[in-house]
Amino acid sequence: MRNIVAGNWKSNKLMGEALKWMEDMSSWMPNRGHVEVMVAPPAPYLSQMASKAPAGLSVIAQNVSPEGPGAHTGEHTAEMLKSCGVSGAIVGHSERRARFGDTDRLVAQKVRALVSEKLQAVFCCGETLEQREAGEAQTVVHAQLKAAILGLDASALPFVVVAYEPIWAIGTGKTASSEEAQAMHGSIRGWLAETFGADKASEVAILYGGSCKPANAHELFSQPDINGGLIGGASLEPLDFQGVVEGHPDSEKG
Ligand code: PGA
Repeated sequence: MRNIVAGNWKSNKLMGEALKWMEDMSSWMPNRGHVEVMVAPPAPYLSQMASKAPAGLSVIAQNVSPEGPGAHTGEHTAEMLKSCGVSGAIVGHSERRARFGDTDRLVAQKVRALVSEKLQAVFCCGETLEQREAGEAQTVVHAQLKAAILGLDASALPFVVVAYEPIWAIGTGKTASSEEAQAMHGSIRGWLAETFGADKASEVAILYGGSCKPANAHELFSQPDINGGLIGGASLEPLDFQGVVEGHPDSEKG
């Protein structure tokens, strides 16, 4: 079973601040215990951040082109990321789905672009508040999983990480309760087991995202199907991010 805590900086920090963050994290890394740590800085910093990353901390992108090389101004391909020492990318984040036109189809292409290069695809799914209140949360999440993951060969699963991020909890200070989150994580695990078999499904890390912070990380990460988190705001300051990793029961402090 993989345990992962990944930071998503979104459009925050300048280069100098990014390098200082990496320096602060480097000396702390032995405390991570059995938790893989990932960080997704803005694209211009990826190569340099990857070259400075200590063992156990992988640098991932916030986006990837759905296509290969060619006349696609502004895009970076999975192969380019790999050539910079980058380990993968976040795909299907709700901010990209809502504001930058990332449809289910594009998200599926991006997942395939990554796994075909043996890079990690941190695939995000999650429902809006209206969908939750209408009792549709599970249907929505399963449809997102189906669109992006269903056709993959089981051999690609080691390169897939699922991040359940209820949209109403992202950046709002509202967190799903550990029961709500576990219920959805259990149903995601169930979907993976039906699709790929229980053994394969048990190896996929399912992360929770949405206002996760040091104060609530331990309770969330102690749930049986919550293997870590995708962290926005609380990943920006090393001390907060370290506090979140330390909330994981498989970290040194956990
Ligand atoms: P948040 O963001 O931790 O700031 O809520 C999570 C995310 O969007 O990945």
